[in-house]
Order: sequence, then C-alpha cells, then structure tokens
Amino acid sequence: MKTALITGITGQDGSYLSELLISKGYRVIGIVRRSSSVDSRGRLDHLDPDVRKKIILQYGDMTDASSLVAIIKRFEPSEVYNLAAQSHVKISFDQPIYTSEVTGVGTLNVLEAIRISGLNVRFYQASSSEQFGKVAHTPQNESTPFYPRSPYGVSKVFAHWITVNYREAYGMHNSCGILFNHESPRRGENFVTRKISLGVAKIKEEMDAELRLGNIDSQRDWGFAGDYVEAMWLMLQQEKPDDYVVATGVSHTVRDFCEAAFSHAGMDYKDYVKTDSEYFRPSEVDALRGDAAKAREKLGWKPKTDFKSLVGMMVDSDLAFVRNNFSYKHSGFRLSRR
Ligand code: NAP
Ligand code: GDD
Repeated sequence: MKTALITGITGQDGSYLSELLISKGYRVIGIVRRSSSVDSRGRLDHLDPDVRKKIILQYGDMTDASSLVAIIKRFEPSEVYNLAAQSHVKISFDQPIYTSEVTGVGTLNVLEAIRISGLNVRFYQASSSEQFGKVAHTPQNESTPFYPRSPYGVSKVFAHWITVNYREAYGMHNSCGILFNHESPRRGENFVTRKISLGVAKIKEEMDAELRLGNIDSQRDWGFAGDYVEAMWLMLQQEKPDDYVVATGVSHTVRDFCEAAFSHAGMDYKDYVKTDSEYFRPSEVDALRGDAAKAREKLGWKPKTDFKSLVGMMVDSDLAFVRNNFSYKHSGFRLSRR
C-alpha cells in the first residue's frame, strides 16, 4: 500500500485529494494545525465515513520544521502533496510576513524535511496562476514569465523556484502544478465564487438584501477542484518530474459569475450586487487564462466540468446549505468577508 502525506488536508483541495487517494487504495496522512476549535475539519466532514476513518491526522505546522521532520520520519510517505498555504490574496496584504513564512518558507521546510530523511519521495508543489500576475501574454503557459502582484504571489514564486532548485540540485522528484482558479461547494467562503453562491442563497432565502463585492471586472479561468486534484496525482505518476499548467482555457469576469449565479436562482444580479471599496486590492491581477496543452498531451488530463455546471453546482449546494443551517440566520459577530 502506498502512503501519501498531504499538507493542507483540511482545505478545499485537501478534501478532494484525500477522497481520490483513498479511492486508489493509498494510506493518507494529513497534517492539521492546532486551533482552539475543531471547526477547520469541516471539509473532511463532507467525506464518506469509510473514507474519513482511513485518514490519519497528525498535528504539525508549516512554520515548525521539526513537526514536518517527525511526521515524514514516522510515516515514510512515497508521495507528498504540499497544499498548505495562507492562500487568500487580499489577506496576504494584511499579513505579508506570516504569508511568506507559511506559503514560501513553509514549502522549503517540507523540502528540507524530505531531503534530510533520505527517503525516495515524489513531491507535488501547489503553484498558482497568481504567479503570472501582470501577465506577459495570453494565454499563460509553462514558459510565461512570473510577475506576481501580491505578497501571496511573491511567496508562491519563491516556493515554486525552491521546488525546481531542489529537483535540479538534489535530483528530487519534484513537480509543480501551476493551477488556475478552481472552485467547488467546499471553497472557502471568502473567495469570490463562494461568496457569490452563498450570497445568492442568502438573498433567495431572504436572509440578506444585497451582496457587496470589489472589482467585478477582473477575469479568471475557473475550473472545478474535483477535476484539478486528478492532475496533481497524475503529475506524481510520471517517471520524470516536471511543471504543468492546469486550466480550462476559458475565462470569465466576476460579473459573468454573478450574472450566471443569480440567474440560476431566478434573479438579476444588477438588483443586488453593490461595489464596495473595502474589497479592492492594493494591486490587482486583472485577467488570467491558462493554456493546459502540456497537461493534456503528457498527462492525458482535461477538465470535465464547464463554467455553467460549476456555477449551478455551487449555487444549488449553498441553497441547500442555508436552508438546512439555522445558525446562518442567527450568525453574530464576524470579520468582514474579504
Ligand atoms: P485552502 O482551502 O485555503 O486550504 C489551505 C490549507 O492550508 C488548509 O488546510 C489550512 O489549514 C492549511 N494551512 C494554512 N496555514 C497552515 C500552517 N501554518 N500550517 C499547516 N497548514 C496550514 O486552499 P485550497 O484552495 O485548498 O488550495 C490548496 C493549495 O493550492 C494552496 O497552497 C493554494 O495556495 C494553492 N492554489 C489554490 C488555487 C485555487 O484556486 N484553489 C489555485 C492555485 C493554487 P486550516 O484548515 O487549519 O486553515
Ligand atoms: N475574495 C474576493 N472577495 N474577491 C473579490 C471580491 C470579493 O468581495 N470582489 C471582487 N473580487 C475579485 C478579486 O479582486 C479577484 O480579482 C477575483 O475576484 C478573484 O478573487 P479570489 O476569489 O479571492 O481569488 P484569487 O484569484 O485572488 O486567488 C485564488 O486563485 C489563485 C489562483 O490564481 C486563490 O485560490 C489563490 O490561493 C490561488 O492561488
């Protein structure tokens, strides 16, 4: 039985990847950080109980190299998927040093833990289309230069290049998946797609009157997270490590997403969406669109879920969620949703 270690297992991608690896017969080890509640395990609650009980959770933290060394030494994984990050772009402007410690140096901590262990490990790095930032050309592919526009993007560029460097310097089997935005009903509530699908559901159920957003003219290439974790796994099954863009090749504005989501619930977004300067970023990534030709040719990967199905899936899920979740009607004190 193969053993895979996942950092960031409690995140959106971690939950889909766990399901995939368990279905393939892996023993899955996940790193969780200590928090004062167990709320952050919520996404793992989506998993079938039989899947959940096969996952072994261990306390650790990206900023605590000793915890990573101990977990790798104890479980001897043959594959490591490095998904953990402070992954919110706007929040990275509020917490730039923390973001670089977790998202940037944290990746180096994992690589060092693997190198010191001397184990033969295949390593996946969660690189990001945010690294292209102020894009040099469209669509973006593996040769497009990086020009990050946020502390998050800069940290991911460091993590990407240190992963490539360890491949070249030490012959490690390291691959970077440069993934474009991917979403799902399990997406964090402060990313724009989920903020919209949840906003639509709350307005439909008369729990809210409007949805406040920032820049609705920016464009993203949105795919479904469930499709994208398959590409991660495929990268580690290749004899040679390499870097791959993973994208749908189609982009839409945030406005398009609003239009599709509200109309899926029988409403017109123009009646509810308001612009709020709080949600604008100090520097923005205006437009992203990926060219996944290499992943298609070398990995045999292609996306299965189109934009309309993705929007419909998220809105339907949130309609069910707010209808069944009494606490949403009585939610008290919250940080503003970035
Ligand atoms: P996510 O939902 O924000 O999940 C992030 C995960 O990292 C969570 O499990 C979180 O744990 C964990 N984490 C954060 N700080 C940590 C720390 N100090 N130590 C240990 N774990 C820590 O992100 P995602 O959407 O699943 O994305 C997965 C990865 O792909 C991230 O690296 C992200 O930057 C990258 N990426 C995402 C996209 C996308 O569109 N989703 C695109 C390109 C790249 P808690 O649950 O405790 O917070
Ligand atoms: N979050 C958020 N909230 N974004 C908003 C809002 C809002 O109220 N209003 C407009 N936007 C715009 C943002 O300015 C951005 O242009 C776009 O919506 C997408 O924002 P996010 O959903 O926060 O995602 P992101 O593109 O910044 O980053 C995500 O994708 C990256 C891949 O390109 C994250 O998942 C990153 O971790 C990931 O690397």
